[in-house]
Amino acid sequence: MARSAIINVMVQTAMKAGRSLARDFGEVQNLQVSLKGPGDYVSQADRKAEEIIYTELSKARPGYSFLMEERGEVEGDDGQHRWIVDPLDGTTNFLHGIPIFAISIALERQGQIVAGVVYNPAMDELYTAERGGGAFMNDRRLRVAARKNLSDTVVSTGIPHLGRGHHGHALIDLKNVMGETAGIRRLGAASLDLAWVAAGRFDGYWESWLAPWDLAAGILLVREAGGFCSDRNGGQEMFDDGSIVAGNEAIHKALLKTLQKRA
Ligand code: IPD
Ligand code: CA
Ligand code: CA
Repeated sequence: MARSAIINVMVQTAMKAGRSLARDFGEVQNLQVSLKGPGDYVSQADRKAEEIIYTELSKARPGYSFLMEERGEVEGDDGQHRWIVDPLDGTTNFLHGIPIFAISIALERQGQIVAGVVYNPAMDELYTAERGGGAFMNDRRLRVAARKNLSDTVVSTGIPHLGRGHHGHALIDLKNVMGETAGIRRLGAASLDLAWVAAGRFDGYWESWLAPWDLAAGILLVREAGGFCSDRNGGQEMFDDGSIVAGNEAIHKALLKTLQKRA
């Protein structure tokens, strides 16, 4: 499959950072059994991956702005384009030797996400999407799942933890959704939750208290696979609100309705 120049740049960057993360992941698995644990090592792995991404993308497209999890905002002089990057999504999994983590890179043009790449180096799964060009996993075209009834679905979510999010609200959402679905899963990497919705593995996904770098690339993947994404109120303020609901048209609508029980 022929990829566009911009997707090529993003893929090459994600693969390079992915090789670095994969090496460090191997080491984390060794450190797991040591008393000190892999904590500091993991934050270094995270920063190293971000450095690679920043260097590669700046070289390929000088002047584009950045929004990166570690580095924050970097203003470029281009004025039209912004990279939105999570160098390691699923840090807790990575730290615990669980091979579900990813690099997420999105490109925004005049405020609109036009390209997205999510790469899980441990599973060697590469997800790509370009606005209007469809979504792919390792060059296979993706399509969201077709199930129409919430009662048949497996949906994914994120569960807040110590010091994060509103635990009471999350419990209400869980209770409401568990009563209406066939199963709930918690992957631990928002970019992959969305990629797995695009791939039809999950019928839907909802989460709150997220950041733009968790969401940007994954939202495009879902849309380009024929799915729908919104914030939990049905609007398009995902980045500002930090919430996301995703699925095919019917499941997206049904999930929104269920989540509205906690207004
Ligand atoms: C986290 C993951 C997780 C989600 C968290 C995010 P990080 O990102 O995407 O699934 O539930 O809220 O912060 O910290 O691993 O980059
Ligand atoms: Ca993240
Ligand atoms: Ca991260």
